[in-house]
Amino acid sequence: MLGLARAARFLPQCAARTEVTLNRSCRPTTSLVRCHRGPAERARAGVISVLGNMADQLEGSPSGAQSVEKLWAMSDLHTDAKENLDFIESLSPLAFRSDALIVAGDVSDDLSIVRLTLRSLRSKFARVFFVPGNHELWVGRRRSDGCGDSLQKLAALEQLCAEEGIDAHPSRLVVSSGQANAEVSLWVIPLLSWHSPGFDTEPEIDSRWMGMPIADQVCSDYFQCKWPPPLNQQDGSVSDRLDSMNDERLSEAPCAGDDREKLAALFESGTRESGDIVVSFSHFLPRIELTPEKRYLYFPCLNKFVGSLALGARVSRLRPDIHVFGHTHFGWDQDLDGVRYLSPPVGYPRERSMRMSTIAIGGFPEAAEQQEQATEPVLVWSASAGFPGKYPAGWSGFYQQYLREPHQALVLPDYVADRYQWDEKRHGPKAAVTGWQGKTPAWRFGPEWSQASRLRALDRSR
Ligand SMILES: [Fe+2]
Ligand SMILES: [Fe+2]
Repeated sequence: MLGLARAARFLPQCAARTEVTLNRSCRPTTSLVRCHRGPAERARAGVISVLGNMADQLEGSPSGAQSVEKLWAMSDLHTDAKENLDFIESLSPLAFRSDALIVAGDVSDDLSIVRLTLRSLRSKFARVFFVPGNHELWVGRRRSDGCGDSLQKLAALEQLCAEEGIDAHPSRLVVSSGQANAEVSLWVIPLLSWHSPGFDTEPEIDSRWMGMPIADQVCSDYFQCKWPPPLNQQDGSVSDRLDSMNDERLSEAPCAGDDREKLAALFESGTRESGDIVVSFSHFLPRIELTPEKRYLYFPCLNKFVGSLALGARVSRLRPDIHVFGHTHFGWDQDLDGVRYLSPPVGYPRERSMRMSTIAIGGFPEAAEQQEQATEPVLVWSASAGFPGKYPAGWSGFYQQYLREPHQALVLPDYVADRYQWDEKRHGPKAAVTGWQGKTPAWRFGPEWSQASRLRALDRSR
């Protein structure tokens, strides 16, 4: 429990205070990104370049779409940390040559590191799909990369993706599947999103608990991002704006044949051809059920800046087979209303050392912790076996066992209760409102291999 409590300090909202262990030697010697052009010009150049790259990739494919064998996913790479960049670079240069990879945001706020990371991945995978997370759109910390605001940084990222052959738009891939080795369409749909306080629809923690910070005090995005007026991330307008960009960008998606009409139908109502596979992804959460209830959070206000109702409505319309998300640094695999939701975080090195059992999903990212050479991202789909079986993960395992009870906002587990004040003279013993209420703590549901890591962290804390 102590491990989780400590590790909660390294949740995304306090990343600005997280120690960054970047070895200068892993930075490129010169920044490859120069924001000397206006965002509109950069965006236009990005579209042209993306189409150019995609045209190269589509060439030679009889169906007009690239064939892949497997689709993998990772989120929250945070390669500012040298260990994380080493981990990415240690992925096999040969094993994924026929595969595609989803990167669900939070690589770095430094565009040169984003470029270095995505370039490394692109050299290993046939296709790399990417959406920015909150860190990519920061302009206020170490550098703004010459971008005046977060929208300009978004345009710079699109330009970067275009230059590096990274997919920032929806695309149809093909896989050979089934008894007749039939060609199956695999749609991969990146969705831009931003968080909004309105996403948190669950009751607040009982007001007798004192000392809990509010979102403004702990959400780094509120001071690291700069949005041009009238956009304001606290009134939901940034969330709505980025969501609407998904429709605007449909016309920019590289499509062959009648794929554009099929994509439009998919976006509008989830209409797809029989046998089509749809995998969408975002950095932020489309549903509140994909994060722990606030009584389990070190900062109960966390859920005010993790998700988007607009994104949720979009995913509901799209009805993908799987939606991949990131941001919370909690491994997750859960079915909700016919959609499977996966969160495959890498997380920060110190998080992994303190609470691996709530970051991990399946066998990932075991090798990142052990810094071994052979590892894989999280498998989403393969031509030979289809969708993988359910992955063990701490919090989604917990919610597979227990119902969500957000109305229970009084009793806090000890790693949360320890942080906040309770007036025993007025309200009775603190011990009476502290505990798991007979439930097995979430970390016990993490993958078997991660339990040893948890016990080591406990030993270190003693
Ligand atoms: Fe992150
Ligand atoms: Fe994030």
